[in-house]
Amino acid sequence: MTWSQNLRKRLKSGVFLSRYTTFRIGGKARFFIEPKNVKELTAVIKEARKAKVPYYILGNGSNLLVSDKGINGVVIKLSSPYFKKASFKKNIIDAGAGLNLGQMIEKARNKGLGGCEFLSGIPATVGGAVMMNAGARGDSISGLIKEVKVLDKNGKVGTLGKGKLKFGYRKSNLSQYILLSAKIKLEKRPKGEIGQRISDYLSVRRQTQDTGKPNAGCVFKNPAGDSAGRLIDLCGLKGKRVRDAQVSFRHANFIVNRGRAKAEDVLKLASFVKQRVKERFGVALEEEIKIWQ
Ligand code: EPU
Repeated sequence: MTWSQNLRKRLKSGVFLSRYTTFRIGGKARFFIEPKNVKELTAVIKEARKAKVPYYILGNGSNLLVSDKGINGVVIKLSSPYFKKASFKKNIIDAGAGLNLGQMIEKARNKGLGGCEFLSGIPATVGGAVMMNAGARGDSISGLIKEVKVLDKNGKVGTLGKGKLKFGYRKSNLSQYILLSAKIKLEKRPKGEIGQRISDYLSVRRQTQDTGKPNAGCVFKNPAGDSAGRLIDLCGLKGKRVRDAQVSFRHANFIVNRGRAKAEDVLKLASFVKQRVKERFGVALEEEIKIWQ
């Protein structure tokens, strides 16, 4: 693969993706780049497409299982300051794709703007959260989105308003794009009240979910009208292990990495869990986490 001289200087090779996933699992990326701005991002995707090298956008790596064999392509992380910018117009925050949700919530709070506190504790970037319509406690980020800015496969920047956006439970119609930023509608609220709501959400999360050991959040989507965690728990699978991959004792829809788990161990354990839930309840669980292999 021959990259232009400019990109050759900027691309890293052989970067361990386990450093960038909350599971702390994943082999090496053949190429890895944190583009400085949209211009550089566009150059990467254009050159990669021309050379038929697949590219992958890495958010916070928190809903992701990366193969132990690594990724034979370009992994792009939107973590430079350019992609972490946020600006305000009245009660709307225009948040860069690389900004973490926690940082976004905090910036909004400082302006006396609330309404997005339910996202507290979700370890995602704005980009990742919008792409998969992250949510908690019955609310999803889609309910707040006014408009998004995207880059298409041909390197064209565009804006999609509400009419063009479709969201479902943990899904969006944006997978063909790279999300650059999102305009999120908030409400004026007293700062103290916002702060209290943030603490309440974080505290419930700490009580009900595994925050100690590396994990990727809920492994499976909830089947309609039920909770995957509840079903897995009823199968008696809390604590079940495949080597260092283990079903969390705290929340059965979490798999934790006890230290040296491989992607292969997680996949074996997830497949065992699916089989058990299918046998016992006739429910086919579907993965919520993204798998790169
Ligand atoms: N439950 C059990 N055992 C368990 C886990 C849960 O019996 O091991 C029961 C709980 O007691 C409760 C019910 O199942 O009665 C639902 O549990 P919880 O409130 O923890 O919510 P959940 O449906 O398991 C969903 C989201 C979470 C989100 C929480 C809180 C999915 C797959 N999960 O979990 O999102 O944080 O609600 O809003 O949509 C994620 O997306 O990665 C994630 C963790």
